[in-house]
Amino acid sequence: MELKNKKILLGVTGGIAAYKAPEICSLLCKQGANVKVIMTETAKQFVSKLTFQTMSRNLVYTDMFEEYPQNAEISHISLAKWADIFVIAPASANSIAKFANGISDNLLSATFLAARSPVMIVPAMNTFMLNNPATEANMNTLKERGIAILATQSDLLACNDVGNGKMLEPTEIVEEIDNRLRKKDLLGKNVLVTAGPTIEAIDPVRYLTNYSSGKMGYALAEEAEKRGANVTLISGPTAIKKPKVSKFISVVSSLDMYQAVLENFVNADIVIKAAAPADYRPKVYHSQKIKKEIGGEFKIEFERNPDILKSVAAKKRHQFMVGFAAESENELANAMTKLTAKNLDMIIVNNIKAENAGFQSDTNVVTIIDKHKNIENIEEMTKIELAKLILDKIKKAVAF
Ligand SMILES: Cc1cc2nc3c(=O)[nH]c(=O)nc-3n(C[C@H](O)[C@H](O)[C@H](O)COP(=O)(O)O)c2cc1C
Repeated sequence: MELKNKKILLGVTGGIAAYKAPEICSLLCKQGANVKVIMTETAKQFVSKLTFQTMSRNLVYTDMFEEYPQNAEISHISLAKWADIFVIAPASANSIAKFANGISDNLLSATFLAARSPVMIVPAMNTFMLNNPATEANMNTLKERGIAILATQSDLLACNDVGNGKMLEPTEIVEEIDNRLRKKDLLGKNVLVTAGPTIEAIDPVRYLTNYSSGKMGYALAEEAEKRGANVTLISGPTAIKKPKVSKFISVVSSLDMYQAVLENFVNADIVIKAAAPADYRPKVYHSQKIKKEIGGEFKIEFERNPDILKSVAAKKRHQFMVGFAAESENELANAMTKLTAKNLDMIIVNNIKAENAGFQSDTNVVTIIDKHKNIENIEEMTKIELAKLILDKIKKAVAF
């Protein structure tokens, strides 16, 4: 998350979803953000000022004319100036109408008019209020002026109607805030990431695979997309949540992955091969389930799968190529050989023997080797943090 030390102004209006606003405040504060809250008079009917004050450890602002002790300046102007981002969640139909029409008759709407930071509106209301042409027109006006308006969800609403109008969940709102505050240093770049294991079928019910979970590749893909890249993620079968990326290609076998990589390689600016495709596949695929009655020893003969990295290395033009290595012995020597043999610009060596590292784990311990053979040992960190660090290093190495 990029929320640490970020100044977030949270506006809360009088809708039933206001009960979720303290959670938004809490999640932001837990990420290290500095949150100041403005409540409308109506919002105070739904949730208390004290709750936000306790969560944010800051004064809560409600009145345009009250003199706030730490704030000698005019509140609506100084708060607007202070914020890195101004988020109104939940935003009522009434406040949205005020924002769209330049009405500034309370602290929240006056601060909106004075805003100079990016503004994000998170609506929440009854379906008929949402679909009313007046609300639709107000939202369109705001969108045309560059204000971000997050979508609402369809569900059973507090008023017992079923339909659109439910506010996004606090975790999703915080993710959107994080996304908007994040540096976009990979804007427009095409990033190809492979992730996860492959599975090699023996018969209709049996297969061979490996322990790769896909977590490292998914973290890299998600982070690159958040930084503005158009990410194509080619993934083997995994049990984890699919990340939000421009293009997700699901594959099963090493041959499928090879094909998908070849099809998507040419347009890529950065290629990150974090998958663990199987090196071998059974030579014969049995179209019927192999019966145990065969008895005795059962042997499977294998044949080599194409070496995906090596094949694309031969086609490399402008692409910055990053490989991963998971070795159980002579890690560095093997990785150095792979770096040169596969024409890589960087190789990340998974320390699969370290605790809290390698396959399945949420954390990783790696060594990064660049194409000049500079070696850097990276201490244990989460795969999400490591993804950020790897992308920072790629960004530094590539002269975009
Ligand atoms: C129980 C209750 C729930 C309400 N929920 C919503 C809501 O979810 N969305 C909305 O736009 N208005 C809702 N309203 C109406 C607003 O409170 C009303 O329009 C008010 O003027 C909003 O003021 P504000 O925008 O200054 O906060 C609700 C009213 C009541 C009594």
